Amino acid sequence: MTHLFSPITLRELTVRNRIWLAPMCQYSCENRDGVPGDWHLVHLGARAQGGFGLILTEAAAVLPEGRISPQDAGMWNDDQAAAWSRVVDFVHGQGAAIGMQLAHAGRKASTYAPFAGNPRGSVPPAEGGWPTRGASPIAYPGYEPPEEMTKDDIAEVVAAFAHAARRAIGAGFDTVEIHAAHGYLLHSFLSPLSNTRTDEYGGDLAGRSRLLHEVHAAVRRAVGETVPVIVRLSASEWRQDGFEIAEAVEVSRALREAGVDLVDVSSGGNMPVSIPVGPGYQVPLSAAIRAEEVPTGTVGLITEPDQAETILTTGQADVILLARVALREPAWPQRAAHELGVEPGPYPPQYTRGAW
Ligand SMILES: Cc1cc2nc3c(=O)[nH]c(=O)nc-3n(C[C@H](O)[C@H](O)[C@H](O)COP(=O)(O)O)c2cc1C
Repeated sequence: MTHLFSPITLRELTVRNRIWLAPMCQYSCENRDGVPGDWHLVHLGARAQGGFGLILTEAAAVLPEGRISPQDAGMWNDDQAAAWSRVVDFVHGQGAAIGMQLAHAGRKASTYAPFAGNPRGSVPPAEGGWPTRGASPIAYPGYEPPEEMTKDDIAEVVAAFAHAARRAIGAGFDTVEIHAAHGYLLHSFLSPLSNTRTDEYGGDLAGRSRLLHEVHAAVRRAVGETVPVIVRLSASEWRQDGFEIAEAVEVSRALREAGVDLVDVSSGGNMPVSIPVGPGYQVPLSAAIRAEEVPTGTVGLITEPDQAETILTTGQADVILLARVALREPAWPQRAAHELGVEPGPYPPQYTRGAW
C-alpha cells in the first residue's frame, strides 16, 4: 500500500485516498447569480470519476460582494445550495468526498474573469461590478481601493461564513474549507501589508488573526462537531515584511488548538511579487507547519506520482492537492495507481476498458 492511496480520516469523514482536487475558480456562472450549472457538474464530476479522494469546489462566495468576479459561484442563498447538491450527489456516487471552499474576496473582489480577451483589474459598476471592502483602504495594486470595513461589516462577514457553511452541510458537503489565502479578505486581515487597522482586528498577530479565528469559531458552531473544517493559508507572501512562515506556524498551531482539522498550505497572492516557483515549491511551508503537529495539505507544482508519494513518506504533508495538472489529466489518480504499482482506483464500470 502506498501513502498516496491510503485512506485518511478527519473527524467522522474517511476519504479514500490522499489525492485531493485543489479549489479552482471556473468563472462560469454565466447568469452572474452564483448558481453552479452544468459546467460545474461536469468539471467536478469528471475528477470524481478520475479517482480523486476529495474534491474541493472553487471559492464559493459567502456574500455576493465577496465574489472575485461576477461569474463566481456562491453559497449565500438556497437556489445555490440546491444547485450544488446535484454536484454533491454525483461526486458521492463516484465514491469521492466533496468539500466546499468558502470565500470572501475582500479588496480583490469585483475583478474580470482572467480569460483571454478580458481586461484586467476591477469591473466598474456600469459593467456589473461593485465597490469593495477590505481590512484597510489600501488597494491591491491595479485594483480599485476598498473601503475599510466597519465592525458591523466584520460581523456580517462572520455570520455569512457561518450561514454558508450550514447551507453547505445541508446540501450534503462532507467538509468546508475556509479560504484565508491568496490575498482575499481573511488573508488581507492577516497581513501587515494590507491591514493597518488600529482597532482589535489589526496590529499584532493576535489582532490580525482575530477575524480568521472568529470565522472559524462561527463555522465550527454552524457545522457541528462531526464535520471536519479545513483552512487554506498563504504561509508566505515571499516578502520579509509580510505575513510569513513564522506567523503562519503560530496561527496554524492556534487554529489546530481551536479544532481545525487540516491546514491547506499555499502561498502568495496578497501583493504582486515574484515567487520562486518550481516543483513542490510550497512543500517546505507545509513541512514547517506539520512539524508543529498540525495536519497539512500541500499544493503547488506537484505533478508526478513519485513526487507526491515522497512528500507523504517523508512526512511533509498528510494530503496532496492538485490543481493545474488535474485540468489536463482528470484521471491523474488512475495514472498514479498504475505508476506506483498499486491496485487501480475504482474505475467507473463504463471506463474499465480504458484502464491503465
Ligand atoms: C484555474 C485556477 C483557479 C484557481 N482558483 C482557486 C480558488 O478558487 N481557490 C484557491 O484557493 N485557489 C485557487 N487556485 C490555486 C490552486 O488551488 C493551486 O493552489 C495552485 O494552482 C497551485 O497548484 P498547481 O501547481 O497544482 O496548479 C486556482 C488555480 C487555477 C489554475
